[in-house]
Amino acid sequence: MSQSSKDAVALLKADHRKVEKLFESFKSAKQSDRKMKLAQEICTELMIHATIEEELFYPACKGEVDDDMMAEAYVEHDGAKVMIAEILASSPDDRFFDAKVTVLSEEIKHHVKEEEAPSEGVFAQAKKAGLDMDDLGAPVAGSQAGTDGQVEERAPPAAGDQVVYWARAQAGRSS
Ligand SMILES: [Fe+2]
Ligand SMILES: [Fe+2]
Repeated sequence: MSQSSKDAVALLKADHRKVEKLFESFKSAKQSDRKMKLAQEICTELMIHATIEEELFYPACKGEVDDDMMAEAYVEHDGAKVMIAEILASSPDDRFFDAKVTVLSEEIKHHVKEEEAPSEGVFAQAKKAGLDMDDLGAPVAGSQAGTDGQVEERAPPAAGDQVVYWARAQAGRSS
């Protein structure tokens, strides 16, 4: 592995840690505008991450990682998109706003556990199958930087459509 290359799994795991921190910050946030800002940041990060996985990483896993596990991963992404759409259409004044963010965090925690599980998880299986993580890392890093802009949606539930367009618009964000 060359020192300048970026390992796709390491990049995806770094995204997971970033979102976990944002969910933690949301938990302790008190003011409405802070909550809304954090929720929007969480939703943006998750949509970009999910799109990168669906466009780059998951297709590379096809035939290498257990089929049922990959099918569940796609379905879990779709479930999260519905909740993300609801959160973005809502506000901290909504009685269920905090609950929606909490439920989303629980869904994501479960999903991340399945991706990262030692030896049986999606990432571990992909590595075991010999997927070239450095090769995949470059386009993943490019998409994370918002330079790609080619992310396309994979048949989402209707509620997810607007979120994808919104995430695309946010993809050129400064950080
Ligand atoms: Fe995922
Ligand atoms: Fe992930």
